[in-house]
Amino acid sequence: LVLVLCLSAAEDFDWTKNHRGSFYYGTFPTGFSWGVGSSAYQTEGAWDKDGKGMSIWDVFTHKKGKVIYNETGDSSCEGYYKVKDDIALLKELKLNHYRFSISWPRIMPTGIKSDHVNEKGIKYYDDLINLLLENKITPIVTLYHWDLPQVLQERYGGWQNLSMINYFNDYANLCFERFGNRVKYWITFNNPWSIAVEGYETGEHAPGMKLRGSGPYKAAHYIIKAHAKVWHTYDNQWRSKQKGMVGISLNGDWGEPVDITSQKDIEAAERYIQFYLGWFATPIFNGDYPQVMKDYIGRKSAQQGLGTSRLPTFSSQEKSYIKGTCDFLGIGHFTTRYITQKNFPASHGPSYFTDRDLAELVDPRWPDPSSEWLYSVPWGFRRLLNFVKTQYGNPMIYVTENGVSEKMTCTELCDDWRMQYFKEYINEMLKAIKDGVNVKGYTAWSLLDKFEWDEGYSERFGLYYVDFRNKNKPRYPKASVQYYKRIISSNGFPS
Ligand code: NOJ
Repeated sequence: LVLVLCLSAAEDFDWTKNHRGSFYYGTFPTGFSWGVGSSAYQTEGAWDKDGKGMSIWDVFTHKKGKVIYNETGDSSCEGYYKVKDDIALLKELKLNHYRFSISWPRIMPTGIKSDHVNEKGIKYYDDLINLLLENKITPIVTLYHWDLPQVLQERYGGWQNLSMINYFNDYANLCFERFGNRVKYWITFNNPWSIAVEGYETGEHAPGMKLRGSGPYKAAHYIIKAHAKVWHTYDNQWRSKQKGMVGISLNGDWGEPVDITSQKDIEAAERYIQFYLGWFATPIFNGDYPQVMKDYIGRKSAQQGLGTSRLPTFSSQEKSYIKGTCDFLGIGHFTTRYITQKNFPASHGPSYFTDRDLAELVDPRWPDPSSEWLYSVPWGFRRLLNFVKTQYGNPMIYVTENGVSEKMTCTELCDDWRMQYFKEYINEMLKAIKDGVNVKGYTAWSLLDKFEWDEGYSERFGLYYVDFRNKNKPRYPKASVQYYKRIISSNGFPS
């Protein structure tokens, strides 16, 4: 009887219910993997050392006015020189995995394999991987956390060009060849939504292009194809020997209808998610773009007098090639928005944002955000995870990012705000697992305070505080280190 009850509980997630319920005492399944994350450009520094080529972020940050206070990742946390120190921090946390990214131009300075492979760059990642394994920490490796080689941007226009797919595949193939005997978890792209929209529509991120309304769709299209190609490369050439997995990591913030009884709001919230997570997850799991994207962008494009939709199409061959190219889904979740219907006339475009016909709101009762965008709304996490389960056939999930930045530019090590955030969000993830969502691991974002893209060093996400004024970039544990460690050692929240 107990079993039957558990199974039926796992079947029905009641979307009409307000899930802002009480704390759940319990533990995670045995073998659940706990980790922390980082990315190359945000932490490594050494931007021009040991033969590394330039990335679009090196060039972007060196232009005035792109980043707060014109800060750059030139030296950042000097992670390149501090592998041993940082692994000691991971050990201190008793982690199961560490998520980091490889800088493409560090190992292929122009991005093109036939030009040159930089052995010093390879050695850096070799040492990092070996040291992790010696310490029984599983590497989860992202191939592309936004630092495209500048040569590929200059010559081809980056992700606006089809040729990027083959260059990326060559790069991934080299990584499988050189590291794949030891790395078993690969993430092709980190947050392609951010690459497409912030890189090619708003221009807030490198390469800083403002190609309103069709640029982001084109970038996304090539990224999805590149992801699928790399998955097939692994599947055909490496999987049987290396026995690893290839996934993708997607932006996964939640959108909740303002009024759960209003059909218009429900549909607007659905559109918010489909234009965000669904844009990438639906082709990869179900074979094509979400119908609602096709409808809305197609209609707006026609009203704007364009002969074809700004959303590219996949041929039926491409659809079946792309479908199913994901061994696990990485989710980066931080916050939630309330969504309501808002009509934008076609003259307000072309733009990704007006294509969606919706407005994003926040609840004034939500506590002050740590940064402009990051409200702590733990219940949204459980709903998002259940959405993934329902829409994409209950895939294996690794939460690849979840965390919060400090309120203002604080120098405090006493980050009770972050402890509260972790407590509540991790608890909602536990409830989602009880709902039947297949979450296998959790990655706190991030190990260190680091370069936060256009926000420079003003947003601190680290479990460890980094003193950037000191050229040695010393790390100091914030209180949340002990707190996260306790969750890990008890595998959750035993009663
Ligand atoms: C997602 C990005 O992948 C990561 O690099 C960034 O630090 C976090 N969002 C926080 O903004």
